[in-house]
Amino acid sequence: MIRLAENTISQEELVNLSNWIPTAPQLTKGPLVLEFESQFAQYIGTKHCVMVNSGSSANLLMAYALLEGGYLKNKKVVVPAISWITTLSPFIQFGFETLLCDCDSQNLGINTQMLEEIFIKEKPALLILVHVLAHINDMEEIYRLCNQYDVLLIEDACEALGTKYNGKMAGNLALAGAFSFYYGHHISTIEGGAVTTNDTKLYNLMLSIRSHGWARDVDEKYRQEWKSEFEIDEFREYYSFYYPGFNLRSTDLNAFLGISQLKGMDEIVKKREENYNLYVEYLGDKYWKQTSQYDQLSSFAFGTIVENRLEVFKYLKEHGIETRPLICGSMGKQPFWIKINNGVTHLPVADVVHDYGLYLPNHLYVSKDDVKYVCEKFMEVAIPKFF
Ligand SMILES: Cc1ncc(COP(=O)(O)O)c(C=O)c1O
Repeated sequence: MIRLAENTISQEELVNLSNWIPTAPQLTKGPLVLEFESQFAQYIGTKHCVMVNSGSSANLLMAYALLEGGYLKNKKVVVPAISWITTLSPFIQFGFETLLCDCDSQNLGINTQMLEEIFIKEKPALLILVHVLAHINDMEEIYRLCNQYDVLLIEDACEALGTKYNGKMAGNLALAGAFSFYYGHHISTIEGGAVTTNDTKLYNLMLSIRSHGWARDVDEKYRQEWKSEFEIDEFREYYSFYYPGFNLRSTDLNAFLGISQLKGMDEIVKKREENYNLYVEYLGDKYWKQTSQYDQLSSFAFGTIVENRLEVFKYLKEHGIETRPLICGSMGKQPFWIKINNGVTHLPVADVVHDYGLYLPNHLYVSKDDVKYVCEKFMEVAIPKFF
């Protein structure tokens, strides 16, 4: 079976983990979480990183810290139609007006024409991007629009760990970036995630909100400021809460794995980019393919559209190849959205992705021969479709 994802954690890493457990000074969030945060921030090129227990928690934490920190001029957010449920769900949970934007017909990121129309009409405070299957959005145009219309920008980079654009990593292209280390992502900590940022105030808010809203983890400067504002003494401080927080913490076990997994990043990115290039070579111009601008593409999977998706899915399955719809399809057609909005929101490009999009396997353990075999089988059955 050529699977869409394989466990990235090796037997050796599991043995190392089990040998380390009895010697660990602290199993919950402890020194290794701090060590992972420092190494991850360095890899992404940001000042700060906050490790959490999933990519979904990372998105939740970014959203809530921006709200609590007074970063937003209103509670309107633009979310790409092609995204993940938990890119969007925190905003619904926090009572934002959530404006869906269609996707670009090449990189499947945000459609900048529709984005400008929404900016003009709705004057939102925030835009969250998703780099779909690791393809970077049209950043130059997005920066221009966000500057012109005074919109804050954050990234859901959960599918884009290791993709580099214009000398910078995904997750360092905006105010903050979210990552997932779930099974099947570029690296895995079993469950896990992180937020990266260069904004020290936001970082400290996230440290607090990640852990109940207390100040134990925040920088000394912030801790003292918060304490003195509310005249908290050193005993009361143990259980003082400055924000109505969550518990989104990672454990040191996950961080132990994360530190080990990070060592493989160069190999992972190289392999994923090589496989992407092979897909492009074998499928040629006969099929639509997702493309984008990048310095380095840490391809998550190979995205395409076909007329006969169900047939392709079944045929590939019979031949031992896994496929899936191209992530969520359009959020505007998801049952939860239909319930909230009393109907479907139609968006021309995202609707096509919803009905015809699929992705083919690409990860560290997909060999060159595997890509060739997948392409051969795919071409035997797939009827090309274009936007
Ligand atoms: C774009 C995107 N955001 C968020 C998530 C959620 O990450 P997690 O599964 O770690 O909660 C995913 C998961 O696949 C994703 O693809």
